[in-house]
Amino acid sequence: MIRTQVGIVGAGPAGLLLSHLLSLEGIESVIVESQSRAHIEERVRAGVLEQGTVDLLNEAGVGDRMRRQGLVHHGIELRFGRRGHRIDFQELVGRAITVYAQHEVVKDLVHARFTAGGQIFFEADSVSIHGFDGDDPRIRFRHAGEQRELACHYIAGCDGFRGICRPSVPAGALRFYEKVYPFGWLGILAEAKPASDELIYANHECGFALMSMRTPGISRLYLQCRPDEDLAEWPDSRIWEELQRRFQTAEGFRLNEGPIFQKGVTAMRSFVTEPMQYGRLFLAGDAAHIVPPTGAKGLNLAAADVRILSRALAWRFCTGSDERLRRYSEICLRRVWRAQHFSWWMTSLMHRFNQDSGFDHRRQLAELDQVTSSRAAATVLAENYTGLPFQLPGEEL
Ligand code: APR
Ligand code: PHB
Repeated sequence: MIRTQVGIVGAGPAGLLLSHLLSLEGIESVIVESQSRAHIEERVRAGVLEQGTVDLLNEAGVGDRMRRQGLVHHGIELRFGRRGHRIDFQELVGRAITVYAQHEVVKDLVHARFTAGGQIFFEADSVSIHGFDGDDPRIRFRHAGEQRELACHYIAGCDGFRGICRPSVPAGALRFYEKVYPFGWLGILAEAKPASDELIYANHECGFALMSMRTPGISRLYLQCRPDEDLAEWPDSRIWEELQRRFQTAEGFRLNEGPIFQKGVTAMRSFVTEPMQYGRLFLAGDAAHIVPPTGAKGLNLAAADVRILSRALAWRFCTGSDERLRRYSEICLRRVWRAQHFSWWMTSLMHRFNQDSGFDHRRQLAELDQVTSSRAAATVLAENYTGLPFQLPGEEL
């Protein structure tokens, strides 16, 4: 039997950052993760960090590599009608974003946990949680062939959308809100110099496309596809042809092409769990909510959740009062719904919808015209994209 203060299920960005923030507050935690360390450190995910996330990682002392290798961007381009229009975040809201891959954040956090003597059980299987409706929470799992039990005061469910924590809550205690989109993104990583210094979001009659990057020599590109798209139908030549079509401009813009070394399809959904807590179980990150990737909010929401949770737990262990833990869900959900709205809005603005008679596309072009010509409209986009302040009014924890 292992004893700790907080038992954490999942070593994604939410679980790792929570464990790290708790240790800075002098609180012990143990993480139980079903995958191997190599797997979580290599898993390809998104890569845009809001200013608030960057600040949090820096303040927590895990920002060294991000400061050296992250690419700071002061704006993005919206491309439609074969023309590019820049949204200047710096000028509109005085903020920036940082492009730094999620698995690099994960590597930095795993390193920080081990350096501080933190405990992570990788490759745990048959993970289950118990007793969180009373005052004796437990995490049971098998590790290296042995059955283990972790006794803790609280459990943090940071095990992603397909984890076991959320489904362990008795039926009817939580409410779920969901929207599934009729499309997905086919994403690639290519050894090709990004054709622009900033991200390009393209609305094209054939569907959405996004140009992002990982380093000055590696492009990250996405194109809208069917949610169940078969990658076998997408040889590299077809991917490049379709991407070039969607990014075309009147001035003859061309993406730089190069060897593709990773391909994948992601289906898109919006999902929220309310409340994000049941008894002594607290859900954080993708375990509690999913956003479509168009607004680049997934990782940033996870960071915001665990920031609030670490403070509320610190208050509880320091003063004995669970008053702040009781407000955890309400505080997180306000930001979550704001991010849901923004992600849905960006998604509906940029994608091609099935059975569009042409009306939706014309409506999108009119809205894009407004966003790129009205300072007020552009400011709303810039404010949301770079991230709401980490402390919204009323969130003083
Ligand atoms: N037991 C233990 N660990 C589990 C289990 C389980 N039954 N099920 C899942 N996990 C682990 C996964 O292997 C993964 O490492 O939980 C972790 C969840 O990590 P993420 O899916 O990355 O979720 P989260 O940490 O909330 O990160 C936020 O932001 O950019 C978005 O979706 C993207 O992952 C990203 C998310
Ligand atoms: C990425 O770089 O992977 C990325 C960037 C912006 C998004 C989504 C993904 O909106």
